[in-house]
Amino acid sequence: MQVIASIYDMQSTAENLRSKDRLIGLVPTMGALHEGHLSLIRLAKERADTVIVSIFVNPTQFGPSEDFTNYPRDLGRDLDLCEKAGADLAFTPAVEEMYPKAYSTYVTEELISKPLCGISRPAHFRGVTTIVAKLFNIVRPDLAVFGQKDAQQVAVIKKMVNDLHFCVDIVTAPTVRDADGLAMSSRNRFLTATQRGEALAISQALHKAKAMVEGGVHNSDRLIAEATHLMGERRRVRVIYTSIVDRCTMEAVREVLPGKAMMAIAAWVDEVRLIDNILL
Ligand code: PAJ
Repeated sequence: MQVIASIYDMQSTAENLRSKDRLIGLVPTMGALHEGHLSLIRLAKERADTVIVSIFVNPTQFGPSEDFTNYPRDLGRDLDLCEKAGADLAFTPAVEEMYPKAYSTYVTEELISKPLCGISRPAHFRGVTTIVAKLFNIVRPDLAVFGQKDAQQVAVIKKMVNDLHFCVDIVTAPTVRDADGLAMSSRNRFLTATQRGEALAISQALHKAKAMVEGGVHNSDRLIAEATHLMGERRRVRVIYTSIVDRCTMEAVREVLPGKAMMAIAAWVDEVRLIDNILL
């Protein structure tokens, strides 16, 4: 597996691949890779000839009091995992090259990025759309794979691609969970065994809501009340939001239209912020 850190080298390598008609798949990540990320790489490998994984902890998507400095970094291990999952190339740019001094251009999506995580993390999606737009311009992939785990992020990126006419197919991969149901996340490593046990209330609440919908309950307030009650039983879990929204627009819906809605939850488990969602 080739590893490229320079933006210029990445552009010329991608250009060369395109000239050979190779279909390029991009998997953007912030490293600290787990099975969720690896499933994206494998899916990209099924759909593209050459799979490029970017590993870059993007400072612009972290708020001032968020965990940018403490975000887990282990490049050696990540490169190993990428290669084993079938990646052809890892792009590992430096922060100083991505955002040189006096950097001043940002991409903002102004509708879908507002609710849910947009409320508690007001500059987050601006950082995500900016870095993803930059990666798309550098690599110019034919397709890019994102996880359903970050449902609002995929919806925002799809909107950006559509609004700004990027020529890239956005592929969404299902959420990978641990055997106990907890959605895999780079931040799970910060959980103690006790916190992890309490964090399970999040996926349990989502699955309970799904079962209720299948049992004929479609009223969002009732579903949210039940999920909130379930999580409220755990002392360490502080809910940031529990919402039932349209899957494309992220707008709250009063009634679940099966196939169109999802329940999304963000919660603190002590100092660890977790998000998860389920399609209803
Ligand atoms: P990161 O959190 O590293 O996630 C990279 C990709 O892996 C995202 O598309 C995310 O949705 C997906 N992913 C994470 N956990 C997953 C799981 N349990 N199952 C399936 N997919 C999962 O998301 C980001 O990085 C950044 O915002 C990024 C898009 C790279 C821009 O900086």
